[in-house]
Amino acid sequence: MELGLTNSRVLVTGSSRGIGYGIASAFLAEGATVILTGRNEENLQGARSALSDEFGGDRIEVFLGDLGDATIRQHLSSALRPQGLNHLVCNVGSGRSVPILQETTDEWRRMFDTNLFQAAGMVQDLRSLLAASVKQGHGASLTFVGSICGMGAIGCPLAYASAKAALWAYAKNLVRPLADDGIRVNMVSPGNVLFPGSTWEGKLAQDAVGVQAMLDREVPMRRLGMLDEITAAVVFLASQRASFITGANLVVDGGQTKGL
Ligand SMILES: NC(=O)c1ccc[n+]([C@@H]2O[C@H](COP(=O)([O-])OP(=O)(O)OC[C@H]3O[C@@H](n4cnc5c(N)ncnc54)[C@H](OP(=O)(O)O)[C@@H]3O)[C@@H](O)[C@H]2O)c1
Repeated sequence: MELGLTNSRVLVTGSSRGIGYGIASAFLAEGATVILTGRNEENLQGARSALSDEFGGDRIEVFLGDLGDATIRQHLSSALRPQGLNHLVCNVGSGRSVPILQETTDEWRRMFDTNLFQAAGMVQDLRSLLAASVKQGHGASLTFVGSICGMGAIGCPLAYASAKAALWAYAKNLVRPLADDGIRVNMVSPGNVLFPGSTWEGKLAQDAVGVQAMLDREVPMRRLGMLDEITAAVVFLASQRASFITGANLVVDGGQTKGL
């Protein structure tokens, strides 16, 4: 299927490793130019180098900095302006928190900063660039990486579940105003994903039998998700093949949240 992403410019926030890195790689495979971001320079340059080996360096740009910082986001916006932006993937987020009901006010703030406010800041700063892409005759899309943790009570850290639920509420409420600019807004909500360096890699190494027992109990497909199963959903939603899709939450979880 031709996805129509060749020559498009895609910013994937938090793409020096993990799911963001996989998403960046999947867009590069479709011929897009990708802007990688992260806070750690060594990791970011390592990601650029590994992806350049696979795809060549011409279509890879990097931006180093903490996207939770409004001034740094302004620098990013200025750096992107000359060449524009067609697709934004807000991937930065983290589920690492404290045990349930031990959240302090600072921890609530930290989780909402990471999983919601930072993404909202990106939208605020880059919306005009996406709208300009539409005016120039290219499509534009905005995709959030959520989590099934935000969809119900499935035992995730409390502040994380709350922040991801809020992210989905935020995304849904953007659909109509951004449709006026021609920008589509969607979310991909992964379940349990296995990739190099993931939590699940560590859990499998410690207790593979326990992990399988959990999967047999909780996940109809009885397995972990693979990175390319998540990235394919993100790339599809940005593509021209999804041109009438906005306001969707594409859940990629092997059926774990089927009853929610
Ligand atoms: N892993 C899972 O199983 C899973 C499941 C469901 C949903 N998700 C969601 O998927 C997304 C990615 O998760 P992940 O597990 O791949 O995360 P991860 O492994 O922790 O990677 C996060 C990426 O974001 C960068 N980053 C973090 N904070 C940043 C900031 N403030 N500014 C710029 N870059 C930042 C990190 O690089 P630096 O540290 O160098 O900044 C890294 O490249 C998150 O939204 C998460 O909630 C993950």
